Amino acid sequence: MALLTKQSVGCTAAPLRHKPQRLPSVAVRCAAATEQSVLKVSRNENFGKLQAGYLFPEIARRRRAHQEAHPDAQIISLGIGDTTEPLPQYIADAMAKAAAGLGTREGYSGYGAEQGQGALREALASTFYPGMVAADEVFVSDGSKCDISRLQVMFGADKSIAAQDPSYPVYVDTTVMMGNTGTHNGTGFDGIEYMVCTPENNFFPDLAKTKRTDIIFFCSPNNPTGAAATRGQLKQLVKFARDNGSLLVYDAAYALYISNPDCPKTIYEIEGADEIAIETCSFSKYAGFTGVRLGWTVVPKKLRYADGSSVHADWNRMMTTCFNGASNIVQAGGLACLQPEGLKEMYGLINFYKENATILKNTFQEMGFSVYGGEDAPYVWVGFPGKPSWDVFAEILEKCNIVTTPGSGFGPAGEGFVRASAFGSRDNIMEAVRRFKEVYGKQ
Ligand SMILES: Cc1ncc(COP(=O)(O)O)c(C=O)c1O
Repeated sequence: MALLTKQSVGCTAAPLRHKPQRLPSVAVRCAAATEQSVLKVSRNENFGKLQAGYLFPEIARRRRAHQEAHPDAQIISLGIGDTTEPLPQYIADAMAKAAAGLGTREGYSGYGAEQGQGALREALASTFYPGMVAADEVFVSDGSKCDISRLQVMFGADKSIAAQDPSYPVYVDTTVMMGNTGTHNGTGFDGIEYMVCTPENNFFPDLAKTKRTDIIFFCSPNNPTGAAATRGQLKQLVKFARDNGSLLVYDAAYALYISNPDCPKTIYEIEGADEIAIETCSFSKYAGFTGVRLGWTVVPKKLRYADGSSVHADWNRMMTTCFNGASNIVQAGGLACLQPEGLKEMYGLINFYKENATILKNTFQEMGFSVYGGEDAPYVWVGFPGKPSWDVFAEILEKCNIVTTPGSGFGPAGEGFVRASAFGSRDNIMEAVRRFKEVYGKQ
């Protein structure tokens, strides 16, 4: 039996630079090393480079610590960005029916196509990419996060990566895991091209100052800033990628939250994108499938690596080797989402969360904060200039019993901001508003 101890050998305290004093410090840059071990296997050293834990488990840990210290506190989470509302009926019924069908000889099915059921691929292509993407260019999966990780495995080591700063931490963390970065220098990882997105540049990076990389991760509407890129901006981005021969991974997980008619809902609306862009998307925030798990990734056949080989063929190889198809029950739910009744329910859910976002945004605006996002995305990005965002996070938790997400967890340029998620019941959102106003309304 391996004897693991908590004695840390060669592990340094992570520069969680603005760690609040009151909370116990357990953040270490690498997991505790072993003093004695049966294993003679060396650790993947890239894991030692990662910062503390993944952002959201770290927030959950701090929430637990707060709850232990204040057992009666009714904590409201506007933190992780997890959906809260029940599955719409038509969609839930479709899955219940599929599950019941599996209990019959006629309705039973085993392994399915790794790429997803034909009918679902057809429906995704025709619903979201009419005239732009063919059904066999859509690969159904267990979610976007998983696809991003699999994409990294497909890209392989020795690839240079650019990502918006701030952005969904998975792009950077999986790049670190792949060994495609240096170490953390206290601000960010050496080797990552951070594309700074702040109010000063309207949350769109200065591409003239962006170094060429092999891969560019770009998320619109952006998590966490809530900024959606306009058609003009996306044309610049596609041109930049084409000029540099870079592969763009476009994360459209929140595309249906876009209201602004000048912001495309898919990168394939931009001419020339089909030769350089992969798009990933998900039912998680559209239909409340965060726990159900269903997403998809589009890999156009026109995408070719430098040697002329097909990216589509490699992704097909990737999915057939490293994935075994999304659950058949869940795919029935996905197909239901794309029927007229399901689409109506899905948009109803999205609109509900969008209303929450409006309520939160208005609240912060009324209190005099600089607040961004919340119109084309379920996230509100609130500025606390000059204040470290982990301190703001701790203060809001302490004074309001509300969990937010510290902006610096999304990248160096997130410092001085916190993200409030609009995923919550209306009662919780209204109660959060009341508490925010009580604490920050009179300042
Ligand atoms: C930008 C972005 N992409 C992808 C994901 C993950 O989606 P999924 O639940 O499909 O893995 C999230 C989840 O929060 C996200 O914010």
